[in-house]
Amino acid sequence: MSTDGFTFSNLGRKIVDSENLPMDSEPEIVSLRPKKLCQYIGQKKTIETLKIGIEAARQRNEILDHVLFHGPPGLGKTTLAHIISNEIGGKLMVTSGPALEKGGDLIGMLTQLENGDVFFIDEIHRLSRSVEELLYPAMEDFCIDFVFDKGMHARSHRFRLKQFVLVGATTRVGLLSSPLRHRFGIFRNLDFYSTEDLETIVRRSAELLNQTIDGDGAVELAMRSRGTPRIANRLLKRVRDYAQVKSHGHIDRAAVVEALELEGVDALGLTPLDRQYLDTIITYYNGGPVGIEAVAATLQEETDTLVDVVEPFLLKIGLVVRTSSGRRASEAAFAHMGWDRGCAST
Ligand code: ADE
Repeated sequence: MSTDGFTFSNLGRKIVDSENLPMDSEPEIVSLRPKKLCQYIGQKKTIETLKIGIEAARQRNEILDHVLFHGPPGLGKTTLAHIISNEIGGKLMVTSGPALEKGGDLIGMLTQLENGDVFFIDEIHRLSRSVEELLYPAMEDFCIDFVFDKGMHARSHRFRLKQFVLVGATTRVGLLSSPLRHRFGIFRNLDFYSTEDLETIVRRSAELLNQTIDGDGAVELAMRSRGTPRIANRLLKRVRDYAQVKSHGHIDRAAVVEALELEGVDALGLTPLDRQYLDTIITYYNGGPVGIEAVAATLQEETDTLVDVVEPFLLKIGLVVRTSSGRRASEAAFAHMGWDRGCAST
């Protein structure tokens, strides 16, 4: 054993250590997650596809096809991987594209899987080329090919794996190579949730947290959650704290508005970063069009954060438009940010 206790045999375990879990896998949020498909609110067509796929595979005594979920963060990709493993009765092994640095990292995990286990790779678009190529035969034929030596002495050995289900998740489906994309049998986009679905999620979560919330409070919270259950659940906890300290624990519309104003979340659910992004396009670039790199440089923010986290919702609600010459703030964005269209230039 090496000095830090890290060996080939515990390699997979180290990657799935609870200390390394992504934010949305932390225990507190997991408890608000639905555990079965029948508890899942929203994404109706995806849920129906999964119910049919799981039931059909069960009837044929086969394994479910590999599943790819794509869409912005917080819309349920990780939750659905947990649900799939609960529904098919296998263990769930969680990792991410950047965590699988070398072929050995992937092999260490794949060889621990049993029949019917679910192997979840988050940010699958960030797998290195060499790791991705090892995954192809693992997905297609449930085997991995080891190559020993090089050149004319090269020999390969095929190692059989158990039949597992790969669930991949990505915020950037366009960055996935086409050989990888084509190896998924079920391919679903997760879209932003309606206010009605988010309201139902908020009521369910409030109940699980032993918290009372009235109808207007639930609607207000839903409207300020950027179409995203993870945000709804996070904000619910902040509003719960506020109501507990300021208004005898009961959550009503006023408690939601006051608590979220403190959080910097406005009536459309925009965060300070969303507003800085819009403000940059409007005031620095006269409403656009402007390239994303220029906006990122002005804001001193990562381009990926703007593309993955900020822009999808602003595009969805029509505050930003993407054109061939760059991003443009819409009339609605000017109005929301309190600008008269003619007065934006500095
Ligand atoms: N909690 C977070 N997302 C949820 C969903 N889609 N349905 C029910 N509860 C949730």
